[in-house]
Amino acid sequence: MQLSDFPVTPVERSRVGDVDFESPGFGRIFSDHMFSMDFRNGAWVEPRIHPYAPLELEPGVAMLHYGQTVFDGYKAFRGADGDARIFRPERNAQRLHDSCLRLCIPIMPADELREILLNATRELIRLDHAWLPTARGQSLYVRPLIIATESTLEVRAATDYRFMVMTSPVGAYFGDQLDGIALKVEDRYTRAATVGGLGAAKTAANYAASLLPGAESRAEGFDQVLWLDGNEHRYVEEVGAMNIFFKIDGTVVTPPLGGSILPGVVRDSTLTLLADWGVPVDERRIEIGEVVDAFHAGTLEEVFGAGTAAVICPVASIGYRGEVYRVAAPPPGELTRMLYDELSGIQYGEREDRHGWVMRVPLPDGA
Ligand SMILES: Cc1ncc(COP(=O)(O)O)c(C=O)c1O
Repeated sequence: MQLSDFPVTPVERSRVGDVDFESPGFGRIFSDHMFSMDFRNGAWVEPRIHPYAPLELEPGVAMLHYGQTVFDGYKAFRGADGDARIFRPERNAQRLHDSCLRLCIPIMPADELREILLNATRELIRLDHAWLPTARGQSLYVRPLIIATESTLEVRAATDYRFMVMTSPVGAYFGDQLDGIALKVEDRYTRAATVGGLGAAKTAANYAASLLPGAESRAEGFDQVLWLDGNEHRYVEEVGAMNIFFKIDGTVVTPPLGGSILPGVVRDSTLTLLADWGVPVDERRIEIGEVVDAFHAGTLEEVFGAGTAAVICPVASIGYRGEVYRVAAPPPGELTRMLYDELSGIQYGEREDRHGWVMRVPLPDGA
């Protein structure tokens, strides 16, 4: 048997009839089936699809104590023609692979991982096609996860792992997001070390570090944290689950990938579209002081986040050291809107997929 060929144990009774597709939330409900495979005795074995079910783990497993775990996330959309469209999953496969290397997880070569992950995703979507929402704005979120499952309290890379893929019908991440969100610049806590840390890996520790600052910013009335570099709290890094872009005096500025921020798939897609459209872009370090100066000069034209959960999310205001700075025009700005319309149009199969970003999965209940 090929590793990318796997047996399927179907559910006895689907739970899809119990789902409130009006307001699915984000990652609160999981579809009937999931994929699993294990690493033991030095090899990845037993790929399989089976009913979504609780895990049985010893309390001593390494992941629970030392956080040896990685995940990723991408979405499948139901197009007007009824087919599912998965947005650039091969990028997520590569990032999952790279995250494993940083977390010392003995992952298979990147091309094998891609084949297994994409096959598992296709199979899950075919099997659970009734879970793929039909409403515009909704989608099926795909969450691969790898955890260390060896029971040991020794601080070292574990010998055993489980690789899982689950899917979840989701709505828009920030409700009526085109109104714009409020960011709080975090100048006390740090998300990830500037050099040599975990920032570029999609791993639990980065998100654990963000919880307290996130809760504090929400208590102050903000939606998300805008992270600064971990050395000086001076240069802008990224948002909680998005990469950040500023349009200042006609040029779009975004921080470069340098190991401390997540290399976002939507970030990359945004940069490609901006290049296609001939919009001036500067991928460079940007000080928070420069953003404040642009606000005072009236040149802070648009600010937006880019990420799988929200696609393109306009930022209405930025809070920094007790002051609130609003972008010049009411959000969404023109460029923000164009990017949102283009990316979501490609994702739902309404606009031409010129870069071959979409992986199409024909569905039994498609048109
Ligand atoms: C910390 C962080 N930055 C950026 C992103 C955006 O990445 P992507 O566009 O691949 O979803 C995410 C979401 O995955 C994230 O969690």
